[in-house]
Order: sequence, then C-alpha cells, then structure tokens
Amino acid sequence: MIIHIFDSQQELNQTGAGIITALIQTKPNAVLGLATGGTPVGIYEELVKNYNLGRVSFSHVKSFNLDEYVGLPEDHPESYRSYMNHHLFDHVDIQKDQTHVPNGNAADVDAECEEYDARMADVGQVDLQILGIGHNGHIGFNEPDRELTAGTHQVELKAETRQANARYFPSMDDVPTHAITMGVGSIMKAKSIILIVRGADKAEIVKRALYGPITTDCPASLLQTHPNLIVLVDKEAGRALVE
Ligand code: GLP
Repeated sequence: MIIHIFDSQQELNQTGAGIITALIQTKPNAVLGLATGGTPVGIYEELVKNYNLGRVSFSHVKSFNLDEYVGLPEDHPESYRSYMNHHLFDHVDIQKDQTHVPNGNAADVDAECEEYDARMADVGQVDLQILGIGHNGHIGFNEPDRELTAGTHQVELKAETRQANARYFPSMDDVPTHAITMGVGSIMKAKSIILIVRGADKAEIVKRALYGPITTDCPASLLQTHPNLIVLVDKEAGRALVE
C-alpha cells in the first residue's frame, strides 16, 4: 500500500488523473473500474483536461462502474449513468457501448447482476479500479454486514447511506432504497486500486479501513490485503494517518 497525502485538491486530482492517463498511454485498451459520488469529480475534470490537451485517448478503453441505484431510469439526472455521462463520457472519445453501468431499471434485477458479472468476466480483469469510501466504510454499495458478497448483487441501502446521498435529491423520500453493486470479490480482482478520500469527516474511517482490523463491519478494510493499493487523501482526511 502506498499512501499519498496532498496539501491541495488540485494536486490530488492531477495525481489521480495522471495515474489513469499513464495507464491508458501504455495500455490504450485498458479496462477501468469507475466510481461515482462527490469524491472522484475533480479527477474526472482533470482527465477531461488531459484528453483536450491530446495527452490521452479513450477510444479503446472499456469501463465498468461500481454501482447504480435501483428504480431510477438511466436518464434520471441522479442515476450513476447520467453522472458518468455528465462528468466524463460526454467529454471524451470513449465509445459509449464500451462503458458499463448496471441497469438499475432492469425488470429482473438478479438477472441483470448475473449479466453484469458475465460482461466483466468477458473482458478478463479490471486494470485500475477507482474507489471512494462511505462514512461507514462501504465501498461501492457494499455496506457493513455480518457477511459480504463476492459478485454483483442487489443491496438495501443503510439509512446513513441514504442520508449521505440525500443532498442530490429533492427529499429523503426520493432517495432510492436499493442499489446494484459490484461485490467485494469483483472489486478486489482489479490489478490495481486507487482509493480516494477527502475531508475531515472521513479521517477516522480511512484510518480504520487502512490500519484497523480486517472485518466485514468495515468493507474497505479488505483493501489492506490488495497487492497494489494506492491511497490518495487530502490533508484533512489524512490527519489521523500521520498522528
Ligand atoms: C456512495 C457511492 C460510493 C462512494 C461513496 C462515497 O454512496 N456508492 O461509490 O464512494 O458513497 O461518496 P462521496 O464520494 O460522495 O462521499
């Protein structure tokens, strides 16, 4: 595990985007595992800049997103498909049919989960997985529990997770109750993982995830066992890591 602590958001964003850009430069058909939420937005902005500067082309890149809300149409402004289009896909030369986000509006959600795993198996392995972390240690939407699931599956969102995402919806009642998420097995299969963490409110959970016991109570703690984990944190989130 390598931990970088940054003084500025700009440095963090440029470093994250730089790692992704370097991967695609050396492997133009790289498979990216992508995350949503507030955390990666600045990294996607820097990636779009790199694309506009001619430093990188996404024309042969494939992508798989971690998760999607159940019950939101793809074109709902808060669906993760809309988020990805808005923050990245619409601004670079990635082929949309090579981008994969679980279909949260599928008639048969279990069949959609199986199909998503099959599509991932077809490409072999994710080269680089981008990850954020929830305040309770969730990764993707893998919530703390007595047991975790390896493959893509449907989850009921914890109240605290719905609360954290309520800022994007008109009211709590509009926040979806369920989601489809890659499982921890799929996440851990990636060749490399970048965990990005920002803000003082994540300082304790990132410390627990990286240095606490490895437990299903904190799904992100599994990342301690990954052979190629890079952690990018701002100085607020990194505070407890250096004390
Ligand atoms: C969300 C997403 C996660 C994300 C996390 C943190 O609910 N499903 O993939 O990493 O929670 O979100 P944020 O980056 O907005 O703090």
